[in-house]
Amino acid sequence: MKALVLSGGSGTRLRPFSYSMPKQLIPVTNKPVLEYALENIRDLGVTEIAVIVGDWAPQISEALGDGSRFGVRITYLRQDRPLGLAHCVALARPFLGEDDFVMYLGDNMLPTGITDIGAEFRGSRPAAQLVVHKVADPRAFGVAELDADGRVVALEEKPEHPRSDLALIGVYFFTSAIHEAVAAIAPSARGELEITDAIQWLVGQGARVRASEYTGYWKDTGQADDVLDCNRRMLAEITPRVAGDVDANSEIIGPVVIEEGARVVRSRIVGPVIIGADTVIEDCHIGPDVSIDRDCVLRSTRLADSIVMREASIIRVPGLHGSLIGRCASIGPSDHGASHSRLVVGDHTRVEVAA
Ligand code: TTP
Repeated sequence: MKALVLSGGSGTRLRPFSYSMPKQLIPVTNKPVLEYALENIRDLGVTEIAVIVGDWAPQISEALGDGSRFGVRITYLRQDRPLGLAHCVALARPFLGEDDFVMYLGDNMLPTGITDIGAEFRGSRPAAQLVVHKVADPRAFGVAELDADGRVVALEEKPEHPRSDLALIGVYFFTSAIHEAVAAIAPSARGELEITDAIQWLVGQGARVRASEYTGYWKDTGQADDVLDCNRRMLAEITPRVAGDVDANSEIIGPVVIEEGARVVRSRIVGPVIIGADTVIEDCHIGPDVSIDRDCVLRSTRLADSIVMREASIIRVPGLHGSLIGRCASIGPSDHGASHSRLVVGDHTRVEVAA
């Protein structure tokens, strides 16, 4: 079996971050979302992986390299424009050949893994094995209707009146039967080759299409609040470790990771919190539910439920909560002691100020 990881796309819902980085590299507990995907694939015993990349190809290949760090072999396939999930399958056809494969959306988090579902697919090799998850409001998703045996009888994209609460999530297992389906469909109204259309084509041809329910935590990290939610969930699993320096005037409470070279001075850290290598924290209250990446500086700041990406600085900000701070961003007092605030923020940035 091979794997196809989708890491192109436009990421419009994650602006402004997606102006400067691929959304699949957004860090959750200081680790890119895409790395979690590769780990789940490797846990299936799959080592031949094609990664679809768009305009951010150089950043993604720099982050993942040839895959040897994860024990896999990565081939990068360039998609010039995000023409749809089924377009990615067509693009990867020469790589996939006649092999079975798992298609994994690079911005999806499934921390409890997919090995059981992979084993189910390998056991009975239906033309497609979909992964579904119960959601409160399925209207924003592809929705699968199943019979009592787990066979898919119909698929609907964003239905107004969903016939089940089982949403399709970002992992699909296919045999090579999918290629004929992809070749048979036309672009949708939004101009994309939709994988749901290809699967629906298989269902219409009488092919065996099954679905398995993933019952663990699942998140599509397509928007800022989803990324923060996911970070909270993954922070709950950290193993405490203090490799950096914590001075005698600091207090560490609960599960906290402090990486090599980090310094915590006169601060109170309430876990779960992770502080990246060579980051400096002085006179701060940090936590709970915070991850701060490497080479950041935080002084005289209170910060909870947030992600701070590498090389950012936050100085004298008394109450930050639910925030996503980008790489090399700088937040702090005015240079000249002015009583007003000054903002230099990029397009589609959102700033919420305390009333
Ligand atoms: P989406 O999140 O559905 O699409 P998007 O990345 O364009 O995001 P937005 O809606 O915010 O603009 O894509 C799911 C995953 O598949 C994501 O990792 C990007 C990837 N993808 C491709 O690699 N190629 C494509 O043509 C499309 C549509 C998505």
